[in-house]
Amino acid sequence: MRTRVGIIGAGPAGLLLSHLLHLQGIESVVLEARSRDYVERRQRAGVVEHAVAETLRGAGVGGRMDREGLVHHGIELRFDGRAHHLDFPDLCGREVVIYAQTEIVKDLIARRLADGGKILFESRATAIEDIDAGSPHVRFTDGAAEQVLECDIVVACDGFHGIGRASLPAEVVRTFDKVYPFSWLGILADVPPSCDELIYAHSDRGFALHSMRSEQVSRLYLQVPNGTDTAEWSDERIWDELTARFALADGSWELKRGPITDKSITPMRSFVTEPMRHGSLFLAGDAAHIVPPTGAKGLNLAMHDVMLLAEALTAWDRDGSTTLLDSYSDDALRRVWRAEHFSYRMTTMLHPDPQGGDFERRLQISDLDRIAASRAAATEIAENYTGLPQV
Ligand code: FAD
Ligand code: DHB
Repeated sequence: MRTRVGIIGAGPAGLLLSHLLHLQGIESVVLEARSRDYVERRQRAGVVEHAVAETLRGAGVGGRMDREGLVHHGIELRFDGRAHHLDFPDLCGREVVIYAQTEIVKDLIARRLADGGKILFESRATAIEDIDAGSPHVRFTDGAAEQVLECDIVVACDGFHGIGRASLPAEVVRTFDKVYPFSWLGILADVPPSCDELIYAHSDRGFALHSMRSEQVSRLYLQVPNGTDTAEWSDERIWDELTARFALADGSWELKRGPITDKSITPMRSFVTEPMRHGSLFLAGDAAHIVPPTGAKGLNLAMHDVMLLAEALTAWDRDGSTTLLDSYSDDALRRVWRAEHFSYRMTTMLHPDPQGGDFERRLQISDLDRIAASRAAATEIAENYTGLPQV
């Protein structure tokens, strides 16, 4: 099998890249280890930055997002029993769209297949070879037989546990890693959201986040210790803990409860690989970097990587220019490190560290107080949350 660009992974990064390349007349094949049903069900992120939403619209795949997604004009920070609202249009003139990653994946798969695109589900890449030789190929297996995909460029969009990152020569790679001493327990519940905008809550009991998927479905997260098993958390225990963490001092807010339909644990990690390219192998999205989810950046960062890469591959396909391909890694990493910084800041500001003491807690409240009191501090959060300034 032969194609121009071989893409490993049908997550949001691989699928958007394949679609953007198709719009420029560039052929690609996407290899995906899991079934279509599995990738369309996997529950993950929900906040789409303004620029990413604009890209989806511009590429003709934003129709359902605009019909069903929820435009949000701000978030609420809750701490010390108080609520503080950040008004995004006022602070930075932008907004975000709440639309589940899994819905973006469904939209992109439907569109690629309607356009005759090739996505090979249940086809796991096992090796990426000859990336120095200029005619790379990917070995993959569909369970029955091993096959080879020959291409001119390979883009590994295969997530944190894929084979792309490990295929870069060890001597050229540098990695940066930080594991946090807590995880998130995420739930989906069939209950209307108890708020109009997302609530990021800091409390002595731990962090909590109230998000949503629609007017009937809520998505909530709780900080839990690493190694937590969802079996330890009955529905009642989850709702009781969320209620306690979101409580306002004047008792003026109530959390609605409903049947929980999904529970999962997300470990919290910061991770960056440098460089994001070697020879004819390029990395994009979680294959190259991970952020803790508190800044809502993981999905957006993955989309930005492939937006850059699509432009670079288009220039290369049109006239053989490699200028943008050559600067891809540096260009992408500038944004990656800004997102790492913002995600680290939001995470360390909002989660009580189980190993920390009263001193660290008091610093967190002081930091949050400053955001509530200072327009400059609030603007910095709003700009970064809606789409990273000065990259
Ligand atoms: P992925 O979505 O991981 O896609 C990679 C694809 O590659 C997968 O479909 C995988 O099956 C496939 N693959 C892997 N190996 C191979 C192989 N060898 N051959 C073929 N295919 C392969 N971000 C947030 O902002 N908020 C959140 O709440 C949040 N929750 C998350 C929860 C979990 C459990 C995880 C893992 C991530 C979460 N994220 C969250 C991060 C966000 O979802 C990711 O940043 C985003 O999915 C990155 O997209 P991607 O396309 O780079 O990678
Ligand atoms: C969601 C996830 C996040 O990590 C976040 O910061 C905000 C919202 C969500 O799943 O809706």
